Amino acid sequence: MKRVLLTGASSGIGLAMLKELIKRDYYVYGIGRDFSTDTNGLASDKFRLLSFDLTDTVELPQLVKNILNDGPLDILINNAGVAYYGNHETISAENITEMVTTNLTVPMILSKLVLPAMKQKGSGMIVNISSVTAKSTNNTHGCAYGATKAGLSSFGMSLFEEARKSGVKVMNIHPDLTDTALYRNADFLPGEDNDAHLEAEEIAKMTVDSIDEMYRIPGLNISDITLRPQKNVIQKKQKN
Ligand SMILES: NC(=O)c1ccc[n+]([C@@H]2O[C@H](COP(=O)([O-])OP(=O)(O)OC[C@H]3O[C@@H](n4cnc5c(N)ncnc54)[C@H](OP(=O)(O)O)[C@@H]3O)[C@@H](O)[C@H]2O)c1
Repeated sequence: MKRVLLTGASSGIGLAMLKELIKRDYYVYGIGRDFSTDTNGLASDKFRLLSFDLTDTVELPQLVKNILNDGPLDILINNAGVAYYGNHETISAENITEMVTTNLTVPMILSKLVLPAMKQKGSGMIVNISSVTAKSTNNTHGCAYGATKAGLSSFGMSLFEEARKSGVKVMNIHPDLTDTALYRNADFLPGEDNDAHLEAEEIAKMTVDSIDEMYRIPGLNISDITLRPQKNVIQKKQKN
């Protein structure tokens, strides 16, 4: 059974990936801070949930060491992320730091920690859940968020070039507006109509399909996937 470390497994795209991976017989170590609600009723012995604040980058290596003591990891999925929106000067220094740490620093540290065993084995996959904002230079009201995602995609592309000769695969996923709680700090939401947003389950299925394909065709690396809804619509949140 392939063993996966998945960050942000407690909600949205990560929770959908947790369910999809379990269904397809992967064993998942899921990291999040709050597993109190949505993971209730997941009946399976193919996952372990770890409540941990990823911004604690001092304790993070020990957490990964404990997981690796159980055995090597086949896949790392860097999915946890956070977003704060607005004119850049309105975003607090704390929130900027939280975005950079969660969206960029943590994936770099986790990759560093899992790579030695992957390279030694001559196989392994690192999957980054980036964003379409990584490909745009027009992320107004999300300049810092977009920059963290551009950094993550750049990191993933270079890491692939560096690690490919060792058999390690790296895949960047770039979703557009997806109906999750990510917009809790925004004054807008993805459009309501079915063709104006993606569902977390759709991102999860495409990601796990691609992972399965790379196992089916060992010489293949799927480097980059971009997923967009047919229409580009956002809606302003109602003011209370
Ligand atoms: N929704 C979209 O439109 C969209 C589009 C493109 C890319 N993305 C990316 O997709 C990824 C998943 O986001 P989502 O849309 O599924 O949003 P979400 O429902 O808010 O999920 C975010 C996940 O990240 C975890 N997380 C955040 N900060 C954490 C921390 N300090 N420590 C541990 N876990 C932490 C959350 O866990 P807790 O809640 O338990 O803390 C949660 O499981 C993110 O990287 C996001 O940038 C989303």
